[in-house]
Amino acid sequence: MAEQVRRTAGDSKWFTEARFGMFIHWGLYAMGARHEWLQHNEQIPVPEYERRYFKHFNPDLYDPEMWAKTAANAGMKYFVITTKHHEGFCLWDSEYTDYKAPSTPCGKDLLKPMVDAYRNNGLRVGLYHSLIDWHHPQYTIDPHVGPYRNADRDKMNKTRNQAKYAEYLHNQVRELLTKFGKIDIMWFDFSYPKPDGSGKGRNEWQSEKLYKMVRELMPGVMLDDRLDLEKGWDIKTPEQFQPREWVTVNGQKVVWEACQTFSGSWGYHRDESSWRSVDELIRTLIDCVSKGGNLLLNVGPTARGEFDYRAIARLEGIGEWMRRHGRSIYGCTQAPAEFNVPENCKLTYNPAARRLYVHILAWPYRHLYLDGNAFADRVEYAQLLNDASEIGLGLEPWVADQMARKKIGKRQERSVVLQLPADKPSVTVPVVELFLKR
Ligand code: GLC
Repeated sequence: MAEQVRRTAGDSKWFTEARFGMFIHWGLYAMGARHEWLQHNEQIPVPEYERRYFKHFNPDLYDPEMWAKTAANAGMKYFVITTKHHEGFCLWDSEYTDYKAPSTPCGKDLLKPMVDAYRNNGLRVGLYHSLIDWHHPQYTIDPHVGPYRNADRDKMNKTRNQAKYAEYLHNQVRELLTKFGKIDIMWFDFSYPKPDGSGKGRNEWQSEKLYKMVRELMPGVMLDDRLDLEKGWDIKTPEQFQPREWVTVNGQKVVWEACQTFSGSWGYHRDESSWRSVDELIRTLIDCVSKGGNLLLNVGPTARGEFDYRAIARLEGIGEWMRRHGRSIYGCTQAPAEFNVPENCKLTYNPAARRLYVHILAWPYRHLYLDGNAFADRVEYAQLLNDASEIGLGLEPWVADQMARKKIGKRQERSVVLQLPADKPSVTVPVVELFLKR
């Protein structure tokens, strides 16, 4: 199966085994606490944004070790942190700007200790970096995104030179890829080319050149798909929606990762009430893996430097499930097509262990039918994953008898019938582990 997936330069093996990562959106917008796009949404000019947020940023409760442990306990295997978001503010001590954490009241580099903490807790390191920059004085003003959509753009652009901004962008990316040890994922965001040339894409970022530099400095890095390059990417990144099937490009399956939020916005949003439940989030992760993809689940820490209580509750809930069910996620992928997906279920498959995982989304009464010869020929043993308790295979005498007498349920193909306990196991999503014959 793996050979059908489009091959790229990045080292995708660890990535597709890991399956579950933490996205972190953290910047000055955490103070506004009403969406990381607030500068654009409310058209806040740079001096005003600086006056409010840059001058008062001081995350005094920041504890990267605790963040990393929370991610590890949730079962996450990598993380991706916003080194700079569209607002232009940098978390690290860049030599190319003063618009950075060390120049705020907080007075220190926030990125280095985070990278160290996550790495020490066994997570791979990913850096998100915004191509867009609403702060840099050379970044040309366009009508699409940024805080100056209604301003006199021609006038403002007289003093701006996008090529100089591109140089800044490349310099900072070089810093990120040389000062923080091995980087496993580089996540650029985003391009918006327009037919009339009014947007920004590969020309404005000088993406080809940037891509070459990234590959030179970090050959195996996994790269997302937002540089506006046809071939210069490793990961397709559906955002805030679940693909219906394994993501393909020109008919070929590709490595993909859905990125999702808890409640809608990526940066800390105090007043959002659309938080998804632990149950929904676990189903989303299962859904990704059942289609051969990863899930990058976002946390927006507060401006004091903490994960808020709603995020912590959900991460703990996911971790509780992952502790017992990681086996149906890590190293797993879409099940081979010959296995029919049973009613109300999602399948994942571990090709190395040759085990199938039946995620039961709605608990049936006593019997779950696995229809088709693939199951009948190959299932050797079955157990509930949460407690390794045996699940009987075949028909219970009563059911077999009823079927025979009433001549109901006669099927052309053979089926395996899982004999489930009447009570749903007390886990969010129960999983039956099927051992396949070699
Ligand atoms: C976007 C948004 C954004 C977020 C990101 C995550 O394109 O601009 O705020 O960082 O996608 O995928």
